[in-house]
Amino acid sequence: MTAGAVIAEAGGMDKEYIFDTGSDLGIGHMDCLQRVLDEPTTRFLEAVGVRPGQRCLDLGAGGGSISHWLADRTGPTGQVVAVDIATDQLTDGPGIEVHRHDVTTGLPVDGPFDLIHARLLLVHLPQREQVFEMLVDALAPGGWLVLGEFSGRPLTVVSAPSDEDRALWERMMHLSHDRLGAARGIDLGWAHSVQGRMDAAGLMNVHGMEYSQTTTGGGVGCLLHRNLNQQAEPLLLQFGATPAELARYRELLLDPGFRAWFYQLVFSAGQRPLG
Ligand SMILES: C[S@@+](CC[C@H](N)C(=O)[O-])C[C@H]1O[C@@H](n2cnc3c(N)ncnc32)[C@H](O)[C@@H]1O
Repeated sequence: MTAGAVIAEAGGMDKEYIFDTGSDLGIGHMDCLQRVLDEPTTRFLEAVGVRPGQRCLDLGAGGGSISHWLADRTGPTGQVVAVDIATDQLTDGPGIEVHRHDVTTGLPVDGPFDLIHARLLLVHLPQREQVFEMLVDALAPGGWLVLGEFSGRPLTVVSAPSDEDRALWERMMHLSHDRLGAARGIDLGWAHSVQGRMDAAGLMNVHGMEYSQTTTGGGVGCLLHRNLNQQAEPLLLQFGATPAELARYRELLLDPGFRAWFYQLVFSAGQRPLG
């Protein structure tokens, strides 16, 4: 039995990823993520260090912007392996090898890798602990594992047109995270546990960074919330949201009079010892 088969058995496949990167909404989803998160992500990766000639793995690569950023820095002699279950938005290019693959069944190519990056992937996977171990094992001596995950920090409203709108936002956050997310195996508590897991796995130079900002109605963060709400509509209805609530919530996310804290992104990095 391969390591990948063990992961699939351990987690089961009943809790599938709830969004569809290959859909029209998925294109907007990836675009919003990249516009909000690429600047802090590349700043963090830059500080970790990415050099020509390195072999990198970008897992759950989504729209591919970080794969391309890595390829620009590791080229012309390096390689970036970009992996996702939906590769519709992943364009290959010099130094990039694209694989359509489910990481809960193992890696599509053998390591070792000088840098493994995954943003907003493990938080979604019920098998995250086994996948984490697989990634540690795939690091080259001196190689870095870099994970970026949303935390469970409350997304507090800063200003809203009315108290009813404020309450509606809180209800949608509750339905999206405490009900739907929890039922589908999403763990927002994972983000702040990653550094401890890196220490326990024997990685060195473990460190992290948190990034958060407010988002205003019509801004990219609010458009991302709106997009996720649209993609998850059938599930939210099952969990008790009403069509009227969904309609007002989506209006609110376009209203410049609404502002709230966006998800906190927690970066963690650790390095495999050289010896
Ligand atoms: C929230 S998106 C993040 C995309 C990208 N990393 C970013 O931050 O912009 C999660 C990505 O992981 C992919 N994904 C989900 N489950 C996966 C799995 N089991 N194996 C590989 N990719 C997966 C999805 O298709 C999606 O593109």
